[in-house]
Order: sequence, then C-alpha cells, then structure tokens
Amino acid sequence: MAKTRTVYSCSACGAQVPQWAGQCADCGGWNTLTEGISAARPGASRFAGYSGGAAGSVTRLSAIPTDAQVRASVGMAELDRVLGGGLVAGSVVLIGGDPGIGKSTLLLQVLATLSGEMSSLYVTGEESLQQISMRAGRLGIDGEAIRLYSETSVERIIATADKERPQVMVLDSIQTLYTELLQSAPGSVAQVRESAAQLVRFAKQSGIAMFLVGHVTKEGQLAGPRVLEHMVDTVLYFEGDSGDRYRILRAIKNRFGAVNELGVFAMTGSGLKEVTNPSAIFLSRHEEAVPGSVVMVTWEGTRPLLVEVQALVDQSQLGNPRRVTLGLEQNRLSMLLAVLHRHGGLTLGDQDVFVNVVGGVRVSETAADLAVLLAVMSSFRNRPLPADLIVFGEVGLSGELRPVPNGQERISEATKHGFNKAIIPAANKPRQTIKGLDVTAVHRLSQVLDTIAEDF
Ligand code: TYD
Ligand code: MG
Repeated sequence: MAKTRTVYSCSACGAQVPQWAGQCADCGGWNTLTEGISAARPGASRFAGYSGGAAGSVTRLSAIPTDAQVRASVGMAELDRVLGGGLVAGSVVLIGGDPGIGKSTLLLQVLATLSGEMSSLYVTGEESLQQISMRAGRLGIDGEAIRLYSETSVERIIATADKERPQVMVLDSIQTLYTELLQSAPGSVAQVRESAAQLVRFAKQSGIAMFLVGHVTKEGQLAGPRVLEHMVDTVLYFEGDSGDRYRILRAIKNRFGAVNELGVFAMTGSGLKEVTNPSAIFLSRHEEAVPGSVVMVTWEGTRPLLVEVQALVDQSQLGNPRRVTLGLEQNRLSMLLAVLHRHGGLTLGDQDVFVNVVGGVRVSETAADLAVLLAVMSSFRNRPLPADLIVFGEVGLSGELRPVPNGQERISEATKHGFNKAIIPAANKPRQTIKGLDVTAVHRLSQVLDTIAEDF
C-alpha cells in the first residue's frame, strides 16, 4: 500500500505546506494550519482529469426510481418526526448536545426498539461495556439483540462493521475516534473531520444507517469543524438544560425532512419518554394573569407549539442598561425596543430588559416579535395581559405588523387549548369567524397599543 502523505493546509487561504507552523507563510494567518491527507498523488498532473481520466456515465433525472428511500420507524413517534418520518438506510445522523443530556440513553433505547426488526451495532469509544450494560439494566432493555463493540480506530470499526453487516449503527462519540492516516490526537479538528468522512463514505456504500454522537463546546457549538455538519445528512441537537426534566430534540439540518422540527422527551427514572402534547408543558400555569407574561404560538418544523414569553423590565443600576434574552435572539430585542420607542412612545433607555422563553425552548422565528413587545410593555407597566390571550406576528422597522406563515394552523392550536382572544397581523386574519375566539387583526403596532389600552 502506498504511504499516505499528510499535509497541513491553511483554513483561511488554502495554502498547503508539509510541516506545521504557527503562522501561515502565504496569508499570515495565525494558528490556521490543520493536518489533513494529501489529495494529490505524487507526480499526478493537476489536469489529470482532462488528459487521462475515463469518462463516467450520466443518468437522466426521470430514470431514477424515487421509491428507493424506505423509511424504518425507530419506534418513537417524536424521534421519527424529527428524522422526517423515520430512518433512511445509508443515512448519517449527527446527534449533538450537552454532556448528560441523554444522547447515549436515547440511542440505546432506539437500538432496543429497533432490534426486533433490524440488526444493530453499538460502538462505544467513551464508556466501558459494563457502563452500557448498567444503563441498559436501568432502562429495562434485554440485551439479547444488541451487539456492542468497544473500539476507537475508524479503520477497525469499518472492517468490523463490514464483517458484521448491521443495518443500523451507533458511534458514541465521534470525538473519541481516530484514523491511523493522521498523527494528531483524537478529538482534534483534522481527526474528527477525516474519521467522519470515512464513516460517511462507508455508510453510503454499505447502506448502513448511522448515528454519530457529537460533543458540544462550551459555547454550545458542535465540537469539531463545521464541515462535520456538511458531511452528514441530518443534524439533530438536544436543547434544554440537563438539569431540567424536559429534553427537546431539534433538527438543525435534514436532507430527508423539515428543519426546525421538534421532538419533546421527558427524562424519567427509566429513560426518555415521549411527550405527546408538548404545548401543555411549555405554559406555566399561573393561578391568575401575571405582568410580563404572554403566550404565543410558534411554528416548529411542521407543527404549532404554544410557548410562554416572559419579560422583566427593571430600573437599571448600570450606565449601560442590560438587554438579556434566553431562547431568543439578542439583537432582535434591541431592535424591537427601538421600534417600541419610535412607534409606541415607550422609553426604556434607562431600564434593564430580560426576556425568557419558558421551558428552555429556543424560538428563532420572527413571529415572536409581537409577543416580546407585549411582554415587555406588560412588565414595564406592571399590568397583566389577559390570561386567555395569544399573539403572534412579526414587527417591522416602520412599526407595521407583518404576516407569518401558517396563521390558520396557529390559531386552531390556540383554540384547541382554550384561548379566547388573539391579536394577530391583519394579513393573517382567518377568512371565517372562529367560534369562541375573539380575533383582533391589526396593521400597525400603534393599533395593538390601542387594543390593549383598556387593560393598561
Ligand atoms: P447520558 O445518556 O449518558 O447522556 P450523554 O450521552 O448525552 O452524555 O446521560 C443521561 C443522564 O440522564 C444522566 O445524568 C443520568 C440520567 N438518566 C436518568 O435520569 N434516567 C435514566 O433512565 C438514565 C439511563 C439516565
Ligand atoms: Mg454519552
């Protein structure tokens, strides 16, 4: 076998050098050189493709059978939904999340439910076989059908998988694996990238569905290069706090389904259990309406979800008042406060503003704008909004209320949970009147203020 050559390439300019250095000699970037495998064989011409390459075959799009993707249910409806309707053969799913959030638990449960129909292999590079067996005992899994393998060398894992031929495989975790082609330590950028690349290639060739577990950094990003997210088919992310009972699994990227799809689980004494009615758990049930709280309907993937937005506005003790968001985008809050000042006449320049989405959910859509503004106003005036009010809508810079997608479905979700009042953008107004729901459709922020004026 020809010896592979390692090269160091600059992540900023792409220059390649045979030896590592602190600074790239080409672009001057510091600490940008990472180890990789030389793609060009020594002596091969740069234009080999023009002169010596054999021609490949080209297929017509219409000639490709579309029923090739058979989806297998993983036995948990919430996970099936996040995957886009089940597990696709040959697909690679990356699962990320904080330590202790339940990645290993979820995957062991998945293999247990799948084991009746599919052969499986759980590769662990992190925990001992005893630890996994203890966890299985806690989950009440009978280990007859689950095969375990403790290994960290990618080459040996692939050789073993090729021999065993499982249909679904778990690798826990990608940061502990290493390929013998590189000298850098497991967990380094180059190792993670190259190990994942080999595994993805193997999954596509063999048709084995793979789950890769990925660690996250302190900043909450998946550790290792962003390229990992490009290589795999699906990226799922555990949100929420590992101290909290509820765990939210979100699809960040999915080649086989909707992104932003949510699955909700509860961690119990015997593993993760699905939560089938998540809207109910994200609303904190107050005895009576409290200032600074409003319920909104957010759209996650393919379904609506009711969440409570809370705000606290307080006289600032600092020269630079604080704007803090949990579960929402921070810059958006600053923008909305400026809109509130210009178009609502509310000055919060000397106030600290904290906004939180209850239950550790992250809301990234602009439909939360109106809810944030109403929660802030309610807290500032120390007057509660009606407890049976729901809102949604995007607020523009000129104080206009813009429509959001799936207005109809959001409204029906709210009526299902007993809400009687709604303030929504005019363009989202339902065509028919809905029994039991008093809808106020507004064009501008100033109209919203007039509508709730009697409450304040
Ligand atoms: P684990 O699945 O090992 O998390 P990760 O692989 O993401 O690091 O962690 C599970 C956590 O959940 C751990 O703190 C113990 C707890 N747990 C339960 O509460 N109930 C259970 O049945 C199990 C197996 C774990
Ligand atoms: Mg783990």
